[in-house]
Amino acid sequence: MQYSNLKVAAEQVNFKQAVLRGLGKDQGLFFPDEIPQLDNIEALLQLDFVPRSVAILKPFVEDVLSEEMLGGMLERAFNFPLPLVKVDSKNDIHALELFHGPSLAFKDFGARFLAECFARFSPEKVEVPLTILTATSGDTGAAVAHAFLGMKNIRAVILYPKGKITQLQEKLFCTLGGNIHTISIDDDFDSCQQLVKEAFSDPEIRHPLNLNSANSINIARLLAQVCYYFEAAAQLGYKKAKSTVFSVPSGNFGNATAGMIAHCLGLPFKRLVAATNENDTVPRFLAEGHWDPRKTVATLTNAMDISLPNNFVRIQQMAASRPEMFEQQLFSGKISEAETLVAVRQLYQQGYLADPHSALAYAGLIRDRKQRGSGDETGVFACTAHPAKFRESLEDTLQIKVELPQELAVVVDREILSTQLDSRYKSLKNYLLGMDNP
Ligand SMILES: Cc1ncc(COP(=O)(O)O)c(C=O)c1O
Repeated sequence: MQYSNLKVAAEQVNFKQAVLRGLGKDQGLFFPDEIPQLDNIEALLQLDFVPRSVAILKPFVEDVLSEEMLGGMLERAFNFPLPLVKVDSKNDIHALELFHGPSLAFKDFGARFLAECFARFSPEKVEVPLTILTATSGDTGAAVAHAFLGMKNIRAVILYPKGKITQLQEKLFCTLGGNIHTISIDDDFDSCQQLVKEAFSDPEIRHPLNLNSANSINIARLLAQVCYYFEAAAQLGYKKAKSTVFSVPSGNFGNATAGMIAHCLGLPFKRLVAATNENDTVPRFLAEGHWDPRKTVATLTNAMDISLPNNFVRIQQMAASRPEMFEQQLFSGKISEAETLVAVRQLYQQGYLADPHSALAYAGLIRDRKQRGSGDETGVFACTAHPAKFRESLEDTLQIKVELPQELAVVVDREILSTQLDSRYKSLKNYLLGMDNP
């Protein structure tokens, strides 16, 4: 499969090169030149998760990875459960729980597959270790840190907006040390993302530090995420999948992109709702036709406080060759803070504790159903983070005590090891140039 840079079409690479380069020239993202139609989806859904994921990803990687290699990589990466939990029988609504990996968020799928790719593609002996530079709005950092911790010849440098992630999110990845370096930036996530892009464009940094990215800039992460849409459909059954509406909480639009890749591959579903918080660049763009990002505002769903969603260009790329599919099956809407809180409470009354991001997706699903009035649909909302990661806001909203799972209980008293930097590129550059080799 050939991948092209969406900004510089002449830059064409295979999967290995796309993974190792991370970001293309002029900060362009790589995207497959074609998305093949998979055969016999009904039979595919009968397979177990890992063998099915091998069949889904094979066409994207087969020129650089054998089926056997891919199978081993996915076996190790996807080694945690992925339950679809019914939360409302009457209305046929299900929670797709994507948070059972080591960092308790959906990002574990992408980060763990990416780490497998780097382990496979990096040479055994290197002159310069690989530096994975990544921006996080809260959850990517933990997934990347846990996926790369202790890996030979690789160090991860993770930027996050100071004071804009929860304490528990911070504890999960800023207490590890070793080859994991964390930096709190005195600004918002968009600024962290911009710093990463600047470093990629800086020849004094990119090559000397053998820079790469683990953000959803990297195509490997997105491809891994495609697999869980198929798993949801497998658990529902082919017939039900056809009348299913997915709702995903959206910030950088990686999840939504993966869902639409799944749809282009032939996975049947009715619609995908990409629900945003107040940072609603995409819903406004789809409604009014103007790309008009505003200053990012802080919300309860902090991991989605993004006004420059990186992945939207990939959605536009797919939409260009399938305009009808995208007009009829992809929707995006803004959910207010008040609606998110109502959704947290409603779900809790139904016996389901959801973190605010997952609850926002639920609110998106319910609104979509009300607007369209179709009662015979199945609804699936993506639960992207474990509720305990957002313990403070849930305890506040619901007046309950939220127990910490083991993964969080062990880090809660550890010291934060992060370095603090202002948001000037010069400060980051000095830091990177001053780092010791791992
Ligand atoms: C818990 C959670 N939900 C939703 C999102 C948004 O996902 P995406 O950036 O793929 O739109 C994120 C991203 O950081 C997240 O951490």
